[in-house]
Amino acid sequence: MIIYKVKNEEEMGKKAASILAAQILMKPNAVMGLATGSTPTGAYQQLVKWHQQGDLDFSQVTSVNLDEYRGLAGDNPQSYRYFMNEHLFSHVNIDKSRTFVPDGLEADADKACQAYNQIIRDVGGIDLQLLGIGPNGHIGFNEPGEVFEKETHCVDLTESTIRANARFFDSMEKVPKQAYTMGIKNIMDAKKILLIASGEAKAEALHQSLYGPITPQVPASILQLHPDVTVVADESALHWMG
Ligand code: PGA
Repeated sequence: MIIYKVKNEEEMGKKAASILAAQILMKPNAVMGLATGSTPTGAYQQLVKWHQQGDLDFSQVTSVNLDEYRGLAGDNPQSYRYFMNEHLFSHVNIDKSRTFVPDGLEADADKACQAYNQIIRDVGGIDLQLLGIGPNGHIGFNEPGEVFEKETHCVDLTESTIRANARFFDSMEKVPKQAYTMGIKNIMDAKKILLIASGEAKAEALHQSLYGPITPQVPASILQLHPDVTVVADESALHWMG
């Protein structure tokens, strides 16, 4: 595992973007596992900038996102599909038909999840999976629990995640309570993992994940078993490292 401790959120974004871009430069038809949330926005901004300068070509790239809220349409500004369009896809030359996000409007959870597992298989697996981390150690929407859920599944979001997401919605009632998310096996099958974190609120989760016991109570702790993990985090998220 490589850990890059960078000064602040901005540096984290730049370093993460460099790693994502390196993957695309080394393999132009890479399958990129992407993530939403506030943490990756700086990296996406930088990728867009490089693309606009003519330095980064997404024309052969495929993407698969980690998760989507159940019940939200892709044109709902709070959906993760919308987020990805806004922050990345609409600003680069990626073929939108090769950008995949679980189908939040598929009411049949089994069908939605099986379809997404099939998509991940059909694209040949993930070359590089970008991950944020929740204050409770979640990755994607794999929340703390009794077992590591293997493949794409429908989750009841925990109170703490619902609260953390509430800032994006007008009222608590509108915050989705369920989501479709890739499972731990989908994530662990990625050839490379890039975990990013910034801020004090992530410090404990990051510490537990990287050095604590491997347990489904801290879903990101499973990453200790992955052979190719790079962590980019800022000083406040890594203050415990000294
Ligand atoms: P954040 O979310 O980037 O908005 O902090 C990360 C996560 O919960 O995975």
